[in-house]
Amino acid sequence: MDMKQEFLKGWRIIWWLFKLFGFPITIPWLMYHFYDLIQFKRRSAALRGKVVMITGASSGLGEALAHVFYNSGCKVILVSRRKEELERVKNSIINTHHTIPTHPPMVLPLDITDINALRTEVDLIIEIYGQIDILINNAGISYRGEVVSTSVDVDIKVMLTNYFAQIALTKAVLPFMIKQQYGHIVCISSVQGKCAIPHRSAYAASKHALQAWCDSCRAELADKNIKVSVISPGYIRTDLSLNALTGNGQIYGVMDKTTEAGYSPEYVAHCILRAILNNEKDVVIATFIPKFAVYLRTLCPSLYFWIMHRRARKAVKES
Ligand SMILES: NC(=O)c1ccc[n+]([C@@H]2O[C@H](COP(=O)([O-])OP(=O)(O)OC[C@H]3O[C@@H](n4cnc5c(N)ncnc54)[C@H](OP(=O)(O)O)[C@@H]3O)[C@@H](O)[C@H]2O)c1
Repeated sequence: MDMKQEFLKGWRIIWWLFKLFGFPITIPWLMYHFYDLIQFKRRSAALRGKVVMITGASSGLGEALAHVFYNSGCKVILVSRRKEELERVKNSIINTHHTIPTHPPMVLPLDITDINALRTEVDLIIEIYGQIDILINNAGISYRGEVVSTSVDVDIKVMLTNYFAQIALTKAVLPFMIKQQYGHIVCISSVQGKCAIPHRSAYAASKHALQAWCDSCRAELADKNIKVSVISPGYIRTDLSLNALTGNGQIYGVMDKTTEAGYSPEYVAHCILRAILNNEKDVVIATFIPKFAVYLRTLCPSLYFWIMHRRARKAVKES
């Protein structure tokens, strides 16, 4: 047998192996993805005209979410403290997706920790749009510090922003959702809402609280046709670490390597859109290690605690 015949024989074997094992796997896989694509398109169409309120829309993930939902034909309401940044996002949305026939985004400057003002702002939205279909609780702040040297004021501030403000806004929106017999509450938590790491105590605690509150809320609201989704991303390339608070309440101001190497906010925003369309209740958007950590914390806590102890020690040595 010459070289050419040997080569052809090799290919024939590979082809037969593919026919034997490849087709039974490839064809159903392709069919599943084709079906999924059709369902996605159908559900996306149902999003057209929905009123979506997005907190923390002035940067990072919130900004990306605003683009994704506007591009799906939604009427988006952009909420955060910095009005000029919200105006920038609004202009960028209008200039990027100028073919979308829907309302221009609404800019709503608001500090969500001003809990007593939330109902009035929600009433204003209802007056303008008549409804809120989807609330995305995305605004948040992070924290870097040691438990012993962190002032309780910082713990309270992180908890107020990442937990109390989120539930207060949700409670302000819920009566309207119950009345309209439809709604979707989406809370952006974190992998740290499922397993805590050292030097993030206040942040991890606030996200754990949010996760627990949502789990209770979901069960209570299921019969009222109100859906609750908790999204737990791993690292995302945003300003989160730059804006994080330190133990004495100052701004951390450092772009962490982990954050810099994270997923793009656009990718995470698309995953969130898909999760909402599929009514997924609890979604982790992360690479293998953070996902594995979540399972390890549940299935083998002693090993997880040992790894975290080593991580804390290493961080102290490096500082
Ligand atoms: N980046 C990550 O690695 C990562 C990982 C997991 C989860 N997350 C979560 O993703 C969400 C978005 O964060 P990001 O990564 O996009 O960070 P970011 O760029 O710092 O965005 C945070 C947003 O929250 C807003 N915000 C903060 N405090 C607020 C307040 N009191 N009232 C109203 N708005 C407030 C900020 O706007 P103003 O300053 O204009 O108010 C900003 O738009 C957060 O909940 C965060 O915990 C992020």
